[in-house]
Amino acid sequence: MSEEQKKPEHRSRPSSAAFRTFVSSGWAPRRTTTPERAEVASYAAARRQALSDRFAGERIVVPAGGLKVRSNDCDYVFRPHSAFAHLTGLGGDREPDAVLVLEPRDGGHDAILYFRPLAGRDTEEFFADSRYGEFWVGARPSIEDIEAELGLTARHIDEYADAVAKDAGSLTIRVVRDADRDLTEKLDTVRASASETDEASETEQVEAADDELAAFLSTLRLVKDEWEIEQMRLAVAATSDGFDAVVADLPEAVRRGRGERWVEGVFGLHARHAGNGIGYDSICASGDHANTLHWIKNTGDVNEGDLLLLDAGVEVDSLFTADITRTLPVSGTYTDAQRKVYEAVLAAQEAGIAAVKPGNKFSDVHAAAIRVIAEHLHEWGLLPEGVDVEATLDKEHGQYHRRWMVHGTSHHLGIDVHDCALARKEDYMDAELRPGMILTVEPGLYFKADDELVPQELRGIGVRIEDDVLVTADGHDNLSADIPRTADDVEAWIRRIQQG
Ligand code: GLY
Ligand code: MN
Ligand code: MN
Repeated sequence: MSEEQKKPEHRSRPSSAAFRTFVSSGWAPRRTTTPERAEVASYAAARRQALSDRFAGERIVVPAGGLKVRSNDCDYVFRPHSAFAHLTGLGGDREPDAVLVLEPRDGGHDAILYFRPLAGRDTEEFFADSRYGEFWVGARPSIEDIEAELGLTARHIDEYADAVAKDAGSLTIRVVRDADRDLTEKLDTVRASASETDEASETEQVEAADDELAAFLSTLRLVKDEWEIEQMRLAVAATSDGFDAVVADLPEAVRRGRGERWVEGVFGLHARHAGNGIGYDSICASGDHANTLHWIKNTGDVNEGDLLLLDAGVEVDSLFTADITRTLPVSGTYTDAQRKVYEAVLAAQEAGIAAVKPGNKFSDVHAAAIRVIAEHLHEWGLLPEGVDVEATLDKEHGQYHRRWMVHGTSHHLGIDVHDCALARKEDYMDAELRPGMILTVEPGLYFKADDELVPQELRGIGVRIEDDVLVTADGHDNLSADIPRTADDVEAWIRRIQQG
């Protein structure tokens, strides 16, 4: 549950009966219409059904997580755990401290959402609770609102503790452990006291059971349903608009100095306006910063003649995010050396994208792209003496190319930017691609400014190109194909946007 906060002593709150009566009265009646059922509700119900089928007769606990302190009495904006969002359909900042419980019954489960509903105006919370109160953070839905919106049973969070502990010794209880540490600890205590095995093996058993649940929930998200695919299309479209806005503002980023911050802000503005926000910290890396793979400091200048590597994605209200990278010539045209690297990365990406089709393995995409990277490095004479393409691709004795591309080419994408991360190797890396999966294809080449093994002209050049690709019945659909990608098209894009 939420972290405890100490109340500062210098603050007092009015407590007289007269004030309480005064503050709780004189308000217009609350809205009585209930929300419409959300479009996602039936999709979320189907996901819960799959969970129910897999864990018949067991109690499954999926917390949203609690508010997290940023500093002192300020919290971060809340984001629910991805498994909770997936199984309830709740997005945005909904609902701190809520817990979805799948309660077993004959032939299946009841889905019950325990949450903190709207408090009455006669409560202290209404006006005095700066973390949850309506005066401070706004009104929350009522129990009836949530039931109407999501099509499941809702209960007050105060009923959760007894309900989850009931008959603990007579059935298996599993929890998504990383969603809410305090809740998990309490549940561990409940499970331990209900168990007859010794403490050490009990801990081992419940953790193994919980890990199995986490892996299943990750695996459940590998193939997207039609609603999820639509959310991803929206996320990509909004990201495309954000990239256009950055291209339009590149001259301003150069002129102002501290241009990486400007780029971060421009993209962030569009992400926040079009969606819930950014899906992960934007990488706005100019010049040699592009060679730091997760350059999210974004503290540098954007200089004429440099490349700007922008890796950014809009997360829409449902929390699905795009993850797209373009590497742009700040002055509008690539130098010969920049273009040489760019086209090598593009060729690798084309090979990777071509490998996205049902029947191929997830790992085939990386294999196809990295071969092209290795071929270029070999052709440019950068691999060590006597190491050819096959030798560097050798998994045990080679891998020299990794000096210039250390990361994988792909990951699954969805509610999390690195989606389905807890799925087992056989379901992820070694699995065949299936229609409905969405993955990134994002090779790169990174020549650090201080790399003495590459010619001077390549030093300080870092290029990544990243697209979001849907596996279809007969191949793939590059969801972000409309964002210019070839070197010529990127230059034309910059001209079109900056010159009108
Ligand atoms: N933006 C992180 C990644 O591309 O995986
Ligand atoms: Mn990515
Ligand atoms: Mn990325």
